[in-house]
Amino acid sequence: MSTVVPSAVQGQTLASALAGDVLVVTIDQPNEPVNTLSPSLAAEFEEVCVRVTGDLLINGLVLISGKPDAFIAGADIEQFPELRSSEDAERISRLGQDLLGRLENLRVPVVAAIHGACLGGGLELALACRYRICTDHPKTTLALPEVQLGLIPGMGGTQRLPRRVGLQAALDMILTGRTVRARRALQIGLVDEMVHPAILRDLAVQRARALADGSLKPSRSRSFRASSLLLEHNPLGRGVVFKKARESVMEKTHGQYPAPLAALDAVQTGYTEGHEEGFRREAKLFGEMAMTDVSRQLVFLFFATNALKKDPGVDGTPPRPRTVERLGVLGAGFMGAGIASIAVQQGTLVRLKDTDTARVGKGLASLRSVVQERLTKRQITRHQFDDYLALVGGTTDYSGFASTDLVIEAVFEDVALKQRVLAEVEPAIEPSAVYASNTSTIPIGRIAEAAHHPERVLGMHFFSPVHRMPLLEVIAAEHTSREAIVTAVAYGKRLGKTVIVVNDGPGFYTTRTLAAYMNEAGRLLDEGASIESIDTALEGFGFPVGPITLLDEVGIDIGGKVGLVLAEALGARMTPSEAMRRVVTAGRTGRKGGSGFYRYDPTGKKGGVDESVYQVIGVQRRELNREEIIERCVLAMVNEAVRCFEEGILRSPRDGDVGAVFGIGFPPFRGGPFRYVDSVGPARIVDRLEDLNVRYAPRFKPAELLMDMAAQRRSFYADPR
Ligand code: NAI
Repeated sequence: MSTVVPSAVQGQTLASALAGDVLVVTIDQPNEPVNTLSPSLAAEFEEVCVRVTGDLLINGLVLISGKPDAFIAGADIEQFPELRSSEDAERISRLGQDLLGRLENLRVPVVAAIHGACLGGGLELALACRYRICTDHPKTTLALPEVQLGLIPGMGGTQRLPRRVGLQAALDMILTGRTVRARRALQIGLVDEMVHPAILRDLAVQRARALADGSLKPSRSRSFRASSLLLEHNPLGRGVVFKKARESVMEKTHGQYPAPLAALDAVQTGYTEGHEEGFRREAKLFGEMAMTDVSRQLVFLFFATNALKKDPGVDGTPPRPRTVERLGVLGAGFMGAGIASIAVQQGTLVRLKDTDTARVGKGLASLRSVVQERLTKRQITRHQFDDYLALVGGTTDYSGFASTDLVIEAVFEDVALKQRVLAEVEPAIEPSAVYASNTSTIPIGRIAEAAHHPERVLGMHFFSPVHRMPLLEVIAAEHTSREAIVTAVAYGKRLGKTVIVVNDGPGFYTTRTLAAYMNEAGRLLDEGASIESIDTALEGFGFPVGPITLLDEVGIDIGGKVGLVLAEALGARMTPSEAMRRVVTAGRTGRKGGSGFYRYDPTGKKGGVDESVYQVIGVQRRELNREEIIERCVLAMVNEAVRCFEEGILRSPRDGDVGAVFGIGFPPFRGGPFRYVDSVGPARIVDRLEDLNVRYAPRFKPAELLMDMAAQRRSFYADPR
């Protein structure tokens, strides 16, 4: 039996209730979907500590969330832009550490009852408790994702986590921000127990009482493997672990992300110089990281994606989106099957159509393998797996399409075919159903010419592989209705995507800017640059892979076609390189055909550069300056991105930054092309473009908008933070 004494004061986040001699504190931030740690919540925690210290009738404390799916999602990031100096940020970290120190040393045992997301500061709080119970629900996830924002855990996470789960498991979480699910959390000793959500609260109260009367002792040891014991329990072994971790960070980040190295430093200080020093170092490094440009850009991207979650995709009062319960997918190829595989996982009934049963069968098999992977990783249950597969049906005609709310077309990239398919399916669907093409280049307006109801036609440009890539580019054509746009945006969000809405045009935003960049890489080949020099230079700038490797991945034939379409539409600056033309004509298609710029073994594994491709390109090779390679490719992309904004293809620089980072691999730590212009300065960008244009006119003619901005000393963002 629990008595509420007193419930949360209006506007407060913590509500306390006594369950016998155990105080249960429910964390429930008013008017917010999740709980976050903020200075005001810290003050409320202080009050709880004072109450528990003074009230000798209280023998235990339970911390639990009032939110359906989240324990505490982390620190309140909204306060970060307010921090003006590293000393400011360090002070905040010390305050957080002190608060958790008080919680850890309370007179009574504290039990964290975790259901849902327990992230960042939320997990650090849980680590300061004497006992942790989590639910076995798929929504329960634990992580220290600070490095993803260019930060390090700042409330003792770098000190407490290694003690709890061992050095290697802790580094794995801290240096990558990796999410740990309930079962794994139990395995590594991150939590002490895992239970069904229905009994979480009661069990937590029982455990607090048992800890208080001594009948339960929290386990101190974890189930170490012998090998980790050997490595971790002596300074020499730990030295090896730290060295390996540092090497792995450098390999993954090319030294461009300082936070993982800082986190490593904080953890190591705790081991070599003791606990107190470890905490001090953590706070100091947290302060330093909070002021890095990398962190500013990553925090910007975090805010931008959050803002997009709330953006309906149209200005003004949005109409109501149509709820998509039934989806038709035309084309069961690579993209069609990928789209269907994420749709069934959101409970959508899917009809997957292709031209013959063999192709339909292949599409269904590839959908199954995407869902299977989630089952194998235990991200879904067998029951869910069966349910998802039951939601998809294959067809070679339009049966079942009459009741679809949305049709997504993913047939070959061919205007005539796309128009024919649209004309064919329209009579089979409701007049109000929305129709989207997944084309990556063709203007939606051209496809819509074949429609009786062009107002329902738009683009939903997914990226490959669909189940991994976070972006969806929704393309609104001239006649597209606001209802169709908000429906596509809402459904894209349901599929877990970050959605940007752009206006129609050849290559829209992402394909067009990527094409400008890839084309410049081709021009470099024309001038004799080596394949490795181009790829390593741009990887060094921060792209996940270089442009030539990317071309092999996407398909050289596809890249060639895109180049032609864009050259026709946008003129001389997009004229394809001679090298590209020759490699396409030679029939090399890249990885899928086993022959491209690089060598591939029969399993598709990439080897070194295929030297024979230089004969195809037929140019004398020469060294090109690394800086010039980077500058030419990056500025070609950035200039094109600005043109897209200037022409009204993009609704905002924010969309352009998010689209480039999440769709085409622009380095996140640089924030996106528009943030890049702001950080370098529009005047300097214009200078560099003009210099290049002297040699390569008209490719580098600066966008008008850039010139205006340089002249008026304006930037895209009012506040660069
Ligand atoms: P794919 O070649 O794997 O699949 C196309 C499928 O369409 C084939 O299974 C084909 O049989 C089917 N098809 C042809 N005519 C049809 C018809 N009349 N009715 C039903 N199905 C028909 O091609 P992929 O890669 O899936 O591309 C599809 C679309 O997605 C293209 O427009 C492409 O530009 C776009 N896209 C592709 C990306 C990629 O990385 N592969 C990325 C983003 C967009």
